Parts: sequence; structure tokens; C-alpha cells
Amino acid sequence: MDKKNLILSIETSCDETAAAVIADGHDILANIIFSQIPVHQKFGGVVPEIASRHHLEHLPQVVAEALQMAEVSFSDLDAIAVTYGPGLVGALLVGVAGAKAMAAAQGLPLIGVNHIEGHIYANFLVHPQLQFPLLCLLVSGGHTHLVLLQDHGKYKILGRTRDDAAGEAFDKVARAMGLGYPGGPQIQATAATGNPLGIELPRAWLEPGSLDFSFSGMKSAVLNYLNRAGQKGEVVDKADLAASFQQAVIEILVGKTLTAAKATGVRTVLLAGGVAANQALRQSMTDACNAAGYNFYYPPIELCTDNAAMIGCAAYYKYLRGEFSSQDLNAIPGMALA
Ligand code: KG4
Ligand code: ZN
Repeated sequence: MDKKNLILSIETSCDETAAAVIADGHDILANIIFSQIPVHQKFGGVVPEIASRHHLEHLPQVVAEALQMAEVSFSDLDAIAVTYGPGLVGALLVGVAGAKAMAAAQGLPLIGVNHIEGHIYANFLVHPQLQFPLLCLLVSGGHTHLVLLQDHGKYKILGRTRDDAAGEAFDKVARAMGLGYPGGPQIQATAATGNPLGIELPRAWLEPGSLDFSFSGMKSAVLNYLNRAGQKGEVVDKADLAASFQQAVIEILVGKTLTAAKATGVRTVLLAGGVAANQALRQSMTDACNAAGYNFYYPPIELCTDNAAMIGCAAYYKYLRGEFSSQDLNAIPGMALA
């Protein structure tokens, strides 16, 4: 076995049961994702207890598949990594307990990883040459952060959402429009034929220069628009509404990221998290960064949404720093990044 620094990583923080094997932090030997989305779709969102039970059922098989695909066995591994927060507590506990058992049985070091840090590290998986300082817009179902990355493991949060996360706003608006779960991909698909300027929606810029976000006003404006149309018996142009909402969110995300880049002088921008899979966001940020002369990087779509490969990459840098977890590692559902 000539592969070095082999890390088996496990991710069970929400509704994906995932395991990956990463060599030297960047070489993805296996990246298995068992998505529970079809299970939760009929409830219109993730049901925590059902998510935990599915992780419990599927984790052993997902790990076995990852090892098999990577053509390695437990005895080849150098460490086992696992997401221990933030996320759904019951879901996290399954991954943490599983990883602890495997690490203890195999006599391997255990590395607990912050899920948000994992999302950011999806960028290092595919762009290992990235040089600090970096500015990352992290947009997921649970978080919206503008993060200054000073070095590996050194983060400063410059701005965060004061209410809904960007992904959460996509999900709630999609639900109100009857588009189903998860909302982001549904809004993107519905918006494809719509006019982004078709329906006027507010943009919450907050105080001048603020790097914080607020999406609840934009979400409420969509809900009010739907209610008013319903009362008047008018047919809503869903494509225009989806495109207009997506455009409003993107303008805020891109505008605040560029303001942060100017304020900090950081010249390289990263995108991360599930909402980073949004094509219109990727394009708008590309255009804005090109126009302003900033470098811009983002992960491929399959590494933006939840996966274990990103956890393995973040774990690799902890491994290099000798940051290991003890066997009393616990789930921290409300864990912060910094
Ligand atoms: O990072 P992620 O997979 O899980 C969390 O850590 O939250 O993010 C999931 C979020 C969901 O809110 C989903 O609607 C959103 O990412 N999302 C998208 C797209 N794909 C996923 N939002 C907008 N456009 C997309 N294409
Ligand atoms: Zn996530």
C-alpha cells in the first residue's frame, strides 16, 4: 500500500449518511453518499428521529462500500474522522458513536471535525494550492457566514445571518410555493424560465457596511405575495417568482461578499455549502469577482452539498497539526465555527 495519510471520514449531521476515504488530504479514493432525501420528502423537511434511525441502519454499509471502492482495509488506515457538530443531535450521535467504535477497535486516532469547517475545506479538496488569506461565503441550510480564513484552522467570522440561513429561506419559499424539499434545487429549476426582475422583492442590506445577512423579510415578501394572489384568485407565475427570489438572495450574497473583500483587502474568494451548488449564484459571483479583479474558487456541485470527502480533507489538516480527539468525543449540535 503506497497511499499515504489514509483517512476514513464519516458524515451524519443531517439527512445524508456518508463515508469517504481520502489519501494525503486531496486524493478522493471513495466518496459514498446515501441520501435520505426521498425518505423525508413526504414530510416536507427532515424528520430528526427518522434521520437518526436511517443513519443507524445504513452507516455500516456505507463505510464498507467506501473501503471497498478505495480498495483499502481498516488496517491500511491512518485515522478515522467524523463530524461532531453542528447538526441534528441524534444524527450526529450515530456517526460519532460509530467512528469511536471503529477507531477503538482498530487502534486508530480519532479526529472530530466541525461540519461548517468541512464545507469550507471542500475547496481545498480540489484546489490544494490555495494561499491564505482567503474570504469564504459559506451558505448552507443551517448557516450563512462570511469567514476570513487566516490560516488552516484559523477563522474569523466577519458576518452572519441574523435570522434564516440562505438555504433555509430557499427551502421555506419552495415549500410555500408547493415546490417540495429540498427547496434550493427546486427554486433553481423553476427559476430557469422565469424573469428575475419580474416581481419586485425587497433586499435587506441592513446598516451601511454591515456584513450580516437577513433573509426573513425576503421570505415573508414572497409569502405575502402568494397570499395576496390567492385572495384575489390570481394565478402566480411561479417561474417569475422563483427567479425574482433567487435573484434577490444572490444580489445580497454577492454584494456583501464583495464589500467584505474590499474591507479586508483579501483577493481570493471561496464559495461553500449546499447553496453554493446554485448555478446562478456561481455565475454572478464569477462575474462580480472577474469585474473586481478577485480570484474566485468553488467546489464541484457534488462537493458543495453534504458529503464525507470534505470532512476527510478538513481532518487531514488537523492530522498534520496533531489535533486528535479523545474517546470521550461527544456530539455538539449547536457547535460554532469560531
Ligand atoms: O450544506 P447542505 O447540504 O446542508 C447543510 O449543512 O445545511 O445545504 C443544504 C441546503 C438546503 O437548504 C438546500 O435547499 C440548499 O442547500 N441547496 C441549494 C441548491 N442545492 C442545495 N440552494 C440553492 N440552489 C441549489 N441548487
Ligand atoms: Zn452541510
